[in-house]
Amino acid sequence: MTQDELKQAVAKAAADYVNRTVADGAIIGVGTGSTANYFIDELAKGASRFKGAVASSEATAKRLAGHGIPVLDLNDVTDLPVYVDGADEVTPGLHMVKGGGGALTREKIVAAVAQTFVCIADGSKLVTTLGKFPLPVEVIPMARAQVARELAQLGGTPRLREGFVTDNGNVILDVHGLTITDPVALESRINQIVGVVTNGLFACRGANLLLLGTADGVQQLEARV
Ligand code: 5RP
Repeated sequence: MTQDELKQAVAKAAADYVNRTVADGAIIGVGTGSTANYFIDELAKGASRFKGAVASSEATAKRLAGHGIPVLDLNDVTDLPVYVDGADEVTPGLHMVKGGGGALTREKIVAAVAQTFVCIADGSKLVTTLGKFPLPVEVIPMARAQVARELAQLGGTPRLREGFVTDNGNVILDVHGLTITDPVALESRINQIVGVVTNGLFACRGANLLLLGTADGVQQLEARV
């Protein structure tokens, strides 16, 4: 199976999970990226029983609306039973690096509201240690150089994502060369740097369930409690 076929398989498994577990009239949180796009396409097949969705990016909002799925403002939503999103890297403990598509801040906000975070990924995303994929950090533009110096002190090599502006009007520094042995601590540490909006470590609040696309089928991994 190709990587795209594996992404489609996990997207379908996620739509089945949502249809099985989420009540009629609920609102669904939807992530960003190619795997999330496949999920939106699957969700659209049975979406009418849901009230609508909260999007983690402008691109996702556009795709949802294109399928006729109502897009709701998170400020008008108190109950979000599930958030479904992809990842750039995920560990067996369900810590993730996200933000390859630059939507990390809104993704983290929507995930924070959701009761259950379902990560959908093809098998290539499963790693024992995070950091081979450069860690995205969203930064207020005037703080870019200072934040880059501080990230370098933490042992990484930050590189500006050229020509890219986030949905929030900020820039992304992609931090190369990190070996992330304590993702919870590093997530908190980077978020304390003045000028950082957030970073792409999803460890303080990781996923609750991983649907992983492999040649042997979709595997399910649950977070240990
Ligand atoms: C976007 C993300 C995506 O979930 C991540 O980049 C994975 O993308 P894809 O499903 O295209 O491999 O965090 O900000």
